[in-house]
Amino acid sequence: MKKTKPAKSPAPRIGKRPASPDTLNASNGSRSEADAFPIRIDALNREMASPNPVSQSMHLGNPMANMLRRPRRNRRTASLRALLRETELTPAHFILPLFVMEGKNQRIPVRSMPGVERLSRDLILKEARRALSLGIGSVALFPVLADNLKDAFASTSTLDDGLLQRTIRDLKNALPEITVITDVAMDPYSSDGHDGLVYGGKILNDESLPILAAMALSQARAGADIVAPSDMMDGRVGYLRRSLDAEGFNDTGILAYTAKYASSFYGPFREALDSAPKHGDKKTYQMDPANRREALVEAELDVREGADIVMVKPALAYLDVIAAVKAAVNVPVAAYHVSGEYAMVKAAGQLGWLDADAAMLESLMSIRRAGADAILTYAAMETAQRLQG
Ligand code: PBG
Repeated sequence: MKKTKPAKSPAPRIGKRPASPDTLNASNGSRSEADAFPIRIDALNREMASPNPVSQSMHLGNPMANMLRRPRRNRRTASLRALLRETELTPAHFILPLFVMEGKNQRIPVRSMPGVERLSRDLILKEARRALSLGIGSVALFPVLADNLKDAFASTSTLDDGLLQRTIRDLKNALPEITVITDVAMDPYSSDGHDGLVYGGKILNDESLPILAAMALSQARAGADIVAPSDMMDGRVGYLRRSLDAEGFNDTGILAYTAKYASSFYGPFREALDSAPKHGDKKTYQMDPANRREALVEAELDVREGADIVMVKPALAYLDVIAAVKAAVNVPVAAYHVSGEYAMVKAAGQLGWLDADAAMLESLMSIRRAGADAILTYAAMETAQRLQG
């Protein structure tokens, strides 16, 4: 027999989804109670249209949902969210990388890093002062050198009056409270564009160590607070530690680029310093992006050799490595949010594809959440400004 239609059609109801595995009760295979209850969309619509919505008190929710735990309760208001936030991101966590060049009152933008400029020495001082005023207490210096100052032995890296050494002295004289971190690797000074000594097409390990140690000593003499070997030669942390101590620089720290990967995200940095390898790649010393356990080997060695801080680089594509290293060591962990990671957010922002400011903040927060105590980031200044509101 044919059923007749009711005279009045019922109010539209939604919530009658087809049964799917996750709407079934796992224990007995029956539909869950919540699924059987239709949402009163008619009442909801009336409520929302009323001049004075009171949905909380009207109990428009689904009484059958019956949940004791509602994680959303803790997300209700901005003050609750602030109260319960698990990870803190403040300007004090940032290390600001600075590209320094010769000249006076000069700034040259880095094409592939919107917002980043190479600055002449006088401007570096101003920038560092501005960083301090924003709560950023640490800077990492990278010198931009002309080709005629590069050779196979990175000879100019140890000059007492080299660009880097003069910049360190400027900074420490004018702003003694700032932490100056300097990069130890041959590439900015090397005609080969490699981090170690090249001979017969090979990057020599042990032969590079004295060159790196001389570089670190020269930086320490100029007043660097922390030297940061980024070269990935074996044994360099211990070699630097012993060399520094032998000259009385017991208080000069070592921030080791512990797990530095052979990454394509360094592209914009190499453009900034014109430091790309002239031949070959860096895969015989920088790590294979496929490896995580190996990062723990590096971390163990660096800590044993005297590293005060260990670093993972890049950061975003290696959050798992940051977390693993953090769990494995008892020294502070830093992460380098590198040039390419910065550039891609900026580029997408310029195209209008995402909100670059928000994406940058989220990137940096994720690096902290993964376990980084400190973050080297080109977004340090803008983010510090934003965090200060
Ligand atoms: C080189 C060095 C590199 C970076 C910091 N130190 C590049 C490289 O290894 O080729 C990259 C930083 C960045 O991409 O932001 N010793």
